[in-house]
Amino acid sequence: MADNPRLIEHQYDGIQEYDNPLPRWWVLLFWATIVFSIMYAFNLGVGSGPGRIAQYEAEVAAAKAAAPPPAEFTSPEELAAMATNTQIVEAGKAVYTTNCVSCHKADGGGLIGPNLTDNAWIHGGTLMEMHKTITEGVIAKGMPPWGTLLKPDQIDAVTVYVASMKNTNVPGGKAAEGTVVP
Ligand code: HEC
Repeated sequence: MADNPRLIEHQYDGIQEYDNPLPRWWVLLFWATIVFSIMYAFNLGVGSGPGRIAQYEAEVAAAKAAAPPPAEFTSPEELAAMATNTQIVEAGKAVYTTNCVSCHKADGGGLIGPNLTDNAWIHGGTLMEMHKTITEGVIAKGMPPWGTLLKPDQIDAVTVYVASMKNTNVPGGKAAEGTVVP
């Protein structure tokens, strides 16, 4: 045993260490993974293709180009058209009943929030202005930013529903606040 060249001097607990080399194919594979990881880290395009970063960016750009533009922005014309669509106004009423009555009262006469049935508006009474107020809220005054809580089409619908209450002057509503919009 002692003349075995693979036996190393080192001993522990009476057990002598044996130099047991890994197979050559294994060692080569090991080095290959290191070389590959360096090339990967430096984004060298090995084989065909532009490299992973350029490829990722190209794919994102292609997906963006293919996707329809975000529907966040509703144009004044779209809102005006929705305001004449009774189905959408009814859908808006449902959104209102679920989310808005606690502060604006079921009939829109106002509680914590202002009366929505008069012709005075703090933040403007056009469809676009109401849409903006509802989307962004007035956090300092306690009006939540519904843009983060409702879907865009729900905001559109509740906007046209609120607009339909305008100037209906329900009895028992809160006193007018803001600027009168004729
Ligand atoms: C937690 C209470 C609360 C809830 C819920 C609430 N609002 Fe309001 N809202 C307010 C307050 C308070 C104001 C007044 C903001 C101010 O004084 O600037 C307001 C203002 C408004 C205005 C502007 C009125 C104006 O005169 O310019 C609109 C429009 C409106 N809310 C619509 C809605 C809709 C639609 C919902 C439901 C999706 C809703 N609000 C839910 C509290 C609320």
